Amino acid sequence: MPDPASNVNAEQATRQAFRQQLRLRRQALSQQEQKRASEQVSERLLDYITANSHQRIALFFANDGEINLVPLVNALWQQQRQTAAPILHPVCAGHLLFLAYHANSLMHENRFGIPEPVLRCDEVMPLSQLDLILTPLVGFDAAGNRLGMGGGFYDRTLSGWAQGRYPNLSVAGVAHDCQFVDTLPHAAWDVPLPTIITPSKTLSF
Ligand SMILES: Nc1ncnc2c1ncn2[C@@H]1O[C@H](COP(=O)(O)OP(=O)(O)O)[C@@H](O)[C@H]1O
Ligand SMILES: [Mg+2]
Repeated sequence: MPDPASNVNAEQATRQAFRQQLRLRRQALSQQEQKRASEQVSERLLDYITANSHQRIALFFANDGEINLVPLVNALWQQQRQTAAPILHPVCAGHLLFLAYHANSLMHENRFGIPEPVLRCDEVMPLSQLDLILTPLVGFDAAGNRLGMGGGFYDRTLSGWAQGRYPNLSVAGVAHDCQFVDTLPHAAWDVPLPTIITPSKTLSF
């Protein structure tokens, strides 16, 4: 009989292999390719946000070859839309907490070296106050499955949303086109994405 523990280990090893391969792909993009991806995806996201009248948008700061969303932030501020950014949750380990992000936000780097706003209680934006959360990802597939960096942070943070607790909240993944693979391994806790936006495509699942 197959040992269930060895199946779990095999699945983890497959995920790790995908992560390694896909992270290398995005790290290999040139500065010029990154700049173009950043401009194109920002334009596409702005169209999506405008079409859906989203006012309060959580985004992320690029790390490890992810797409730089600074052009989007500037465009959103020009349109008087509110932005938020995730921080590692100070109380619930493994979760994210969203804080308002504005031109005067005091920033620091978290333990992964990712910039985040310094915690201020009056800046907390619960999921119920957000219209859209943009998630980074390492890989996505033809069914909208998402592979992250391996911490499960977005899976935990979005599990209530995936169960229908925030019907007014939209979630969209942002990725380079080269993050695509036909089929990714996925587990019960993985939260799939209904929308993924790349420099060349706006995908719905
Ligand atoms: N909702 C959740 N509740 C408890 N643990 C979770 C939850 N979501 C993910 N995890 C745990 O986080 C770990 C990493 O998740 P994984 O999906 O592999 O990472 P990522 O989504 O970053 O690729 C897994 O071991 C998983 O058990
Ligand atoms: Mg996951």
